[in-house]
Amino acid sequence: MKRDEIICHCMGVTRGEIEDAIKAKKLTTVEEVGEATSAGTGCGGCQNNIQDILKEING
Ligand code: FES
Repeated sequence: MKRDEIICHCMGVTRGEIEDAIKAKKLTTVEEVGEATSAGTGCGGCQNNIQDILKEING
């Protein structure tokens, strides 16, 4: 998995930043990821991808 892939283009947030925040802060929702990283708080178009990353990490 490419950690430097930009997941949220509005806020310029990478997959690695999102993964690290989910693991470090035990995040479970797209809203929590938004609060922690700003990802998903612009157009909202990346929220499905954030959900997929949450699923990958949290099962
Ligand atoms: S691409 Fe993430 S909020 Fe627009």
